[in-house]
Amino acid sequence: MRGTVLLVDDDPMIRQSTEQWLKMANFEVIVCDRAEAALSYLDEQFAGVLVSDVKMPGMDGLELMSRARQQIAELPVILITGHGDVDMAIGAMRDGAYDFIEKPFNPERLVETISRACEKRQLTLENYRLQQNLASRTGIDSKIIGISPSIQKLRRDLLKCAALNTNVIIYGETGTGKELVAQCLHEFSARAECNFVPINCGAIPESLIESELFGHEAGAFTGAIKKRIGKFEYADGGTLLLDEIESMPAQLQVKILRSLQEGVIEPLGSNRQVPVDLRIVAASKVDLAVEDNFRQDLYYRLNVSSLYLPPLRERQEDIPLLFEHYARQAAAQHEKSLRRITDQDIRNLQQFQWPGNVRELKNIAVRYALDGSLPVADILFPQANTYNPDLSSDLQSDTSLSLSAQVANFEYKVICQALRKHRGSMKAVMDMLDLPRRTLNQKMVKYDINRTDFMDGEDT
Ligand SMILES: Nc1ncnc2c1ncn2[C@@H]1O[C@H](COP(=O)(O)OP(=O)(O)OP(=O)(O)O)[C@@H](O)[C@H]1O
Ligand SMILES: [Mg+2]
Repeated sequence: MRGTVLLVDDDPMIRQSTEQWLKMANFEVIVCDRAEAALSYLDEQFAGVLVSDVKMPGMDGLELMSRARQQIAELPVILITGHGDVDMAIGAMRDGAYDFIEKPFNPERLVETISRACEKRQLTLENYRLQQNLASRTGIDSKIIGISPSIQKLRRDLLKCAALNTNVIIYGETGTGKELVAQCLHEFSARAECNFVPINCGAIPESLIESELFGHEAGAFTGAIKKRIGKFEYADGGTLLLDEIESMPAQLQVKILRSLQEGVIEPLGSNRQVPVDLRIVAASKVDLAVEDNFRQDLYYRLNVSSLYLPPLRERQEDIPLLFEHYARQAAAQHEKSLRRITDQDIRNLQQFQWPGNVRELKNIAVRYALDGSLPVADILFPQANTYNPDLSSDLQSDTSLSLSAQVANFEYKVICQALRKHRGSMKAVMDMLDLPRRTLNQKMVKYDINRTDFMDGEDT
């Protein structure tokens, strides 16, 4: 069915013939011989249009239109007017009629106009439902999206953790939502009124890290012109996210441990001890318990609770939902209409391994919303045409290994794959994997990956 037509006319001949045409054109038709009777069929959910004669005994078509539009502001109304009644028709359009049709009318034109009006109505309804849906999804469900059992459990554990005031470590591959979860831990805790302060331990140059974290006095070192408060102090009363904590230099680990133990920090160049009340959330891609370069004492301080974010490939049922969410969001932001995604496309998305996890899926969804492209073959399965077809199966992890060994294996393979695809271009790999250069460099050193191995003769 293409929609419902509420047809109002006092002339039984016109009612009968129009009803027939519309039914043949696949519309559902409700016929009324009086305007008064028609109003009771209209409510917010009415998925169709009103088509009414103008001249009728009792309430006329113009008044019906005005009453109907009081009930549903965006309802498309098509008026059937007498031949030559141009002034009235123009007035009706000004008052918000969708269109008018002169008697005697051509059935094809009527059907065409009604089809367009119905489409418009359905779009309005769909938007309305979407807004309702978004408004009703408040709380954690609207932030951490997913229906898989692992995500449902994550939401429950997260809320429990948030209510406690303990430090937390969040584990997960890149793009699985560690920062998002950290933000939620803050927002759903009693600390929500104070600041949430994320620090990327892998991205701040080592020489600046201390002043970034602890602040400094004026003149504490060359270039320290003004006093500056550090992130620890800024996060006082709130939550501090130590992101990529696995790449925190050893010397800093000692200092952080000390400030956590004592609950105070000392800005550079001062003898002042500033008390800070913080909850620390750390995010890591590797298992800190077995990481050689990570201090065990700091690990035990942080590891009061932990949350594990499963990679996207292990929760395929979340993929359609996340895709739809981000595609719709981007379409709304850029005022684009969204092409419905086919079942086959969804299946393809679900088969992909998603090394960049939700972030990568989000990028693909945004691109789909903007230009309608879903170049499944090129983006999602580059290995199928550019490189070793065995690699995709190779990306499956060997579950007999420890978690950190599996993660390391996986990271190693993803980086090699990306380098191979981009023939050793660091910039392209940084973009593809959304990694800062320093992190990429560190990982390549760690895994002994040499980019020249991926460059070929013609393309360097
Ligand atoms: N379950 C989810 N529901 C909705 N959005 C999500 C979900 N998981 C992740 N995202 C989104 O995916 C993107 C990447 O998430 P986030 O930055 O938290 O990942 P990350 O684990 O911190 O990645 P990295 O290790 O690379 O820093 C963000 O835009 C985030 O909002
Ligand atoms: Mg992050």
